[in-house]
Amino acid sequence: MRHGVIGPGDALPSERDIALKADVSRVTVRKAVQDLVKSGLLVQRHGSGTFVAPRRERVEQSLSRLTSFTDDMARRGMTASSVWLDKGIYPPSPDEMMVLGLSAKEMVARVSRLRIANDTPMAIERASLSVAALPDPGSVVSSLYATLEETGNRPIRAVQRISAVNLAGADARLLEVPDGSACLHIERISYLASGKVIEFTRSIYRGDAYDFVAELRLSGQDKDSAEA
Ligand code: GLP
Repeated sequence: MRHGVIGPGDALPSERDIALKADVSRVTVRKAVQDLVKSGLLVQRHGSGTFVAPRRERVEQSLSRLTSFTDDMARRGMTASSVWLDKGIYPPSPDEMMVLGLSAKEMVARVSRLRIANDTPMAIERASLSVAALPDPGSVVSSLYATLEETGNRPIRAVQRISAVNLAGADARLLEVPDGSACLHIERISYLASGKVIEFTRSIYRGDAYDFVAELRLSGQDKDSAEA
C-alpha cells in the first residue's frame, strides 16, 4: 500500500493469497488487516471485501450560503448519491416538537440518509420536518431541497450549530472511519420566508473530509454580509 503496489480504492487480495505470498499464517494476516482497518488505512465493506481506503480530497464548504448537499457536490463536479437509512412518519420526539413547533398529537416526517460524493461517504444526515411540509417522505428521491422547492417550501435562511464529536459504532461504520474518529456534529434549523421553521436536521460530517470556511468582518463594517 505504502509502496504503491495497490492504490487507494483497490481491493485487497484474499487472506490466503497474502499469507502465501508473505509466508505468514492466516491468523497473522487477519490480525494485521484488523489493525489497518482500525487505523483507517483499509476499509471493510460488508459483502464486498476489504479495500485500501480511498484518497480523501477535502471539501471546502462556505458557512455563509444556504445550499443543499446535492448543489454543493454538483458545484464541485462530484456526483451526490444517498443510501437511505430511514424515511417515514413518526410521533415527534420532545426535541422535534420544540424545534418544529409541533404538538404531541401531530406527526413528524423523517428522512435519514448516508450522503455520498462520488464513492466516498461524507455525512449522515437525519432530517425532521413537519408532516404539513413533507406529507410523503417517500417523495424525496435524491434532493430534499428539490422536493421542498416543488411545494414552495425550500428554506431561505438557516441557523447552523457545529460541534466536535468522536464517532463510534454503527455511524462510524457507515462513514467508513475507525471507531473514535473526530467528526463534526452539525445541527441545521432552517426557515421559510414567513419565519416558520421548515427543517431540523442533525448531521455527522467526516472530520477528515471537510473544511468549513466563514468570512469574518470587523463589526459595524458591513452588517448584512457579516450576519449572512
Ligand atoms: C445539507 C444540509 C442539510 C440539508 C441538505 C439537503 O447537507 N446540511 O440540512 O437537509 O443539505 O440536501 P439535498 O437537497 O441534497 O437532500
